Amino acid sequence: MIDDELVLLNPGPAGTSPAVRNALTRGDLCHREPEFTDLLLSLRSAIPQALGVHHTHESILLTGSGTAAMELAVTNSVRGGRSVLVVVNGVYGDRLAQIARAGGITVHEVSPPGAGLTSWVTPVDPEMVREALVAHPDVDAVACVHHETTTGLINPVKEIGEIVAGTGAVFVVDAISSTANEDQQLSEIHADFICGSANKGLHGLPGLAFVLCSDKGVNRLFEVPARSFYLNAATHLNAQRKGEVPFTPAVQVCYALDEAIREYHEAGGFAARTRLYRDRASLVRRAFDRLGLRILVDERYRGNSVTTLRLPDGVAYRGLHDELKKRGYVIYAGQGGLSADYFRICTMGEIPWYRLEMLEDALEQSIEAVRKL
Ligand SMILES: Cc1ncc(COP(=O)(O)O)c(C=O)c1O
Repeated sequence: MIDDELVLLNPGPAGTSPAVRNALTRGDLCHREPEFTDLLLSLRSAIPQALGVHHTHESILLTGSGTAAMELAVTNSVRGGRSVLVVVNGVYGDRLAQIARAGGITVHEVSPPGAGLTSWVTPVDPEMVREALVAHPDVDAVACVHHETTTGLINPVKEIGEIVAGTGAVFVVDAISSTANEDQQLSEIHADFICGSANKGLHGLPGLAFVLCSDKGVNRLFEVPARSFYLNAATHLNAQRKGEVPFTPAVQVCYALDEAIREYHEAGGFAARTRLYRDRASLVRRAFDRLGLRILVDERYRGNSVTTLRLPDGVAYRGLHDELKKRGYVIYAGQGGLSADYFRICTMGEIPWYRLEMLEDALEQSIEAVRKL
């Protein structure tokens, strides 16, 4: 992030450092050459290592957005004639269910009680997952979003993972907006498929995603029928184990991720990254309180990056967005049914600290300016 640039306060693609962007210019490289094999093998171990799951999980690297990782994990985790249980309390949980249906997989859903918004601001009770597993013995996979970017809510993946681990089902976790930046250690959640992307908490560029598979996950992916050609997990894994890729990869974006992971370790790794995100969240949330902006999600359930805020009276999202953009900040609309009354501010990626300190004034001025329109 360069000082006079727009600060991206959207939940990805996140702002990146000059060195990460410059990594794109390392040069052209054919993915059939040994130099790419070295890069691929290095990333395959560096990603799980950065997230503390290198002793237990094996990487599948994908050229595609985070949704490609979700789709690979969901469609490669359920054997023929079985079903998936999906936790739904936001847009991304709903997407996991839609992906399964599109792949011809029977879906059972569990959602926190209450209609609409009420169920979206509540983490799912793990006991509901236990009961659903008893009610549907054909469930072969349980899928859950760790950090629901729709609202900024954290689901209890560790507790759900403990329940799933005691069954024959595998546990698919969408950690796309939580990898590296949320407090939960991914090594503790018993996930068999962890979905992530390069351009959120790891501060790489968009275009690469990954699925980290446990032994149970690897065994499972070899047992499922092929439901997709491009997103066939066995095809990717068999090739990547040999240092190859089945399709043309985003080579230069791999360079950028390699640089982003180098910077991540240089800055202190997981402990430092999560501390940074916690500190940012408390800085901006104190400012929101002073400005009288209401945060949607209860303090107990909030993650470290996304804050969903009620639009102040008389302030429409588009006007607020445009005024803040004039002052150097890009904010993000509410998602799904939240778009009319809420907006989001996400402190993800490379952001100079002083620009976050200046956000309060920019918000105050922008709200006043919209009210005068
Ligand atoms: C939790 C979560 N899952 C999945 C996705 C989808 O990622 P992409 O837009 O890169 O496909 C996002 C994107 O913001 C997300 O936040």
